[in-house]
Amino acid sequence: MLVTQQEKLRADVTALVDRLGPGRSSLIPILQDVKRRHHGVDSDAMQIVADLLDIHPVEVYSVATFYAFLNPAAQGEFVVRLCRTVSCELAGKDAIARQLETELGIAFGETGEDGRFTLEWANCMGMCDQGPALLVNDRVYTRVTPERVREIAAECRAAYSGHAAERKEGYLV
Ligand code: FES
Repeated sequence: MLVTQQEKLRADVTALVDRLGPGRSSLIPILQDVKRRHHGVDSDAMQIVADLLDIHPVEVYSVATFYAFLNPAAQGEFVVRLCRTVSCELAGKDAIARQLETELGIAFGETGEDGRFTLEWANCMGMCDQGPALLVNDRVYTRVTPERVREIAAECRAAYSGHAAERKEGYLV
């Protein structure tokens, strides 16, 4: 049976409301979970959350855009963040940035059309003596070289689950 993305989203949010309760206090945890599972909180998701919590969609939008960690823009399966703070800058972050853009085929601030990668800048992540430092989702990479960038990208591609393609086509269950 083919389940559309909207139906999957509605089922996920319904389960979350059942678990967390229908009050306003559930709004942030629900948005966090939707973002984690669906790689973003788009307008359909906001409408569904608003319907199921019986609140205005504008309220959902305000909360989603106020909290940076709920950034409603869709993100790739792998969010790659390169530190641009001074120690990493001095350790050669520019060469790593160029290599990342070449390797991933996107510029900083962009998500690739296939939904695999989002490339972003980050600020100091406490690895200043081991720069350049890079985060891929929750994993930290230190002393990154251009060659290491190629390896990291290859590892991500090998681990890619194809969620973006599933989102386009609907879910097979
Ligand atoms: S300056 Fe890059 S991790 Fe601290």
